[in-house]
Amino acid sequence: MKFFIDTANLDQIREAQSLGVLDGVTTNPSLMAKEGITGEKNIIQHYIDICEIVDGDVSAEVISVDFKGMVEEGKILAALHPQIVVKIPMIEDGVKALKYFSDEGIKTNCTLIFSAGQALLAAKAGATYMSPFIGRLDDISTDGLNLIQEIRDIYDNYGFETQILAASIRHTMHVIECAKIGADVMTGPLSSIKGLLKHPLTDIGLAKFLEDYKKGN
Ligand code: G3P
Repeated sequence: MKFFIDTANLDQIREAQSLGVLDGVTTNPSLMAKEGITGEKNIIQHYIDICEIVDGDVSAEVISVDFKGMVEEGKILAALHPQIVVKIPMIEDGVKALKYFSDEGIKTNCTLIFSAGQALLAAKAGATYMSPFIGRLDDISTDGLNLIQEIRDIYDNYGFETQILAASIRHTMHVIECAKIGADVMTGPLSSIKGLLKHPLTDIGLAKFLEDYKKGN
């Protein structure tokens, strides 16, 4: 399972990278705005800065909602750095753009997936990754993890190579449940990754080991 961090915060990206288990970064316009990164020039520079910190794929989202605009924007984003993955929304022109970039050999991440039907279309269009938003489904009393399972089943039935990138992850249990189902990738906040570390028995056990070591020395 690949671990991506879902943020545009450079300090958090550096911290996740320093753990040695980070495989990539996802961003979106809301995450950029949260960090105060606005304006095309600053946003583009920020993508480059992120690529210089991490080794893996970095999703950069297009703002256009028409095919021509998405293709133009996506080409500019893809040319910024070899690690850039063009993030395209699941809308009709987005499906066309996914197919276009797939034919061109440019990596894509189809975002805003909320149903198995949308997931099927993203795979048919040749998306590299597709992002079901599980937390936002949970928010409206719909089981986000069930969607991950449905997509896993459908993709396995046909051998689709599109990677399931479980997104809108809110906490550590989402990560563990996605791993059990077989999501290819998770993207979540740093806390959802660092939460995997924690167990009180580890802390108690370590304290005891250190105490006993001191007794014998
Ligand atoms: O990767 C998608 C993600 O950014 C959405 O997360 O927490 O805003 O639902 P959230």
